[in-house]
Amino acid sequence: MLILAVDTSADETSVAITEGRHVLVNTIYSQRLEHAQWGGIYPSIAKRAHIEKINPAIEETVKRLSSKKTFIENMQQIDYLAVTYGPGLAIALEVGINKIKEMATTYNKKIIAVNHLEGHIYSSFVQNKNGNPVRPFKFPYLALVISGGHTEFVLFKDHYSFEVIGETRDDAAGEAIDKAARMLGFGYPGGPILERLARQVHNSDSYKFPRPMTGKPSLEFSFSGLKTSLLYQLQELSAKEKINQLHNLASSYQEAVFNTLIKKTIIAIKKTGVKNIVVGGGVIANLYLRKLFRALTKEQKVALYFPPYSYLTGDNAAMIGVAAYYKAQKGMFVEKISELERVPRLHL
Ligand code: KG4
Ligand code: ZN
Repeated sequence: MLILAVDTSADETSVAITEGRHVLVNTIYSQRLEHAQWGGIYPSIAKRAHIEKINPAIEETVKRLSSKKTFIENMQQIDYLAVTYGPGLAIALEVGINKIKEMATTYNKKIIAVNHLEGHIYSSFVQNKNGNPVRPFKFPYLALVISGGHTEFVLFKDHYSFEVIGETRDDAAGEAIDKAARMLGFGYPGGPILERLARQVHNSDSYKFPRPMTGKPSLEFSFSGLKTSLLYQLQELSAKEKINQLHNLASSYQEAVFNTLIKKTIIAIKKTGVKNIVVGGGVIANLYLRKLFRALTKEQKVALYFPPYSYLTGDNAAMIGVAAYYKAQKGMFVEKISELERVPRLHL
């Protein structure tokens, strides 16, 4: 079963062709450089960039399926179309959805509408075209999604059986990191910037930042207080001290976010008794965080899975195509194309 999938939920225009769990082609046009100076995703720039890139991304992806065939011949091999319909930036989601609707009509194909978070959860099970890594499903999983928009624990009981058991009350982990980077005078996205700064001081933890809600047994997060704490600490420093302390501040802040994630994951493992953990979302691109998670899994004697290839941590259509495959197996197709709409605040 070949699926052509599209994700335009945030700042990447991504198109993929997948077959079951295998990725045959994945294309990502990133807008990161265009948003960098704004300290976050600038909606109208995102919309324009998606409109500009969606056709080239589709053409390139379809052509790469087989260079010996024409675009139309390649399209005829595709069984279904899949698209992210939320959560995400409304005017960005719209671009992908409209394109998929148009293709569904032109090529007479059914659509599978995918929740972006389902994609991040399935990202640890995506395989390359040779079927690696093998990773057979061993339900249930405790899934942790840590992205720019979300921080949540999900019980992944079976294909398309999700239960959200904890989420953030305010900012997501990635958002907290992006805001700190901006406050320290850097651009967007903040994750890779803080990772580099922290590495230069060996991930030191010399400034005190809170570990929000870790004293409580609940699985809720709250990261918005961290930026206030950073603001106060910055106010205490002279301009020169700020420059001198940049690395230590960034590192301690990152440590507070990561330590909170780790502590909460231990609580979640104890609460649920689930022994298989999957972590997805842009923040798990961080190599230091991966190290902390690996240490946790040894200590807690649980199995841990990350997205196996780095392009699967950030936004990509490959994970949407794989999530769509399991949806298609359950017959979960969009019934009326005209009724498919973006849902910016979609929940699992
Ligand atoms: O999954 P994603 O690409 O988009 C959303 O669905 O939100 O996640 C983006 C988030 C941003 O907050 C970004 O700063 C963070 O992932 N991120 C990182 C790293 N790379 C991206 N956070 C920490 N370390 C990184 N290396
Ligand atoms: Zn995402």
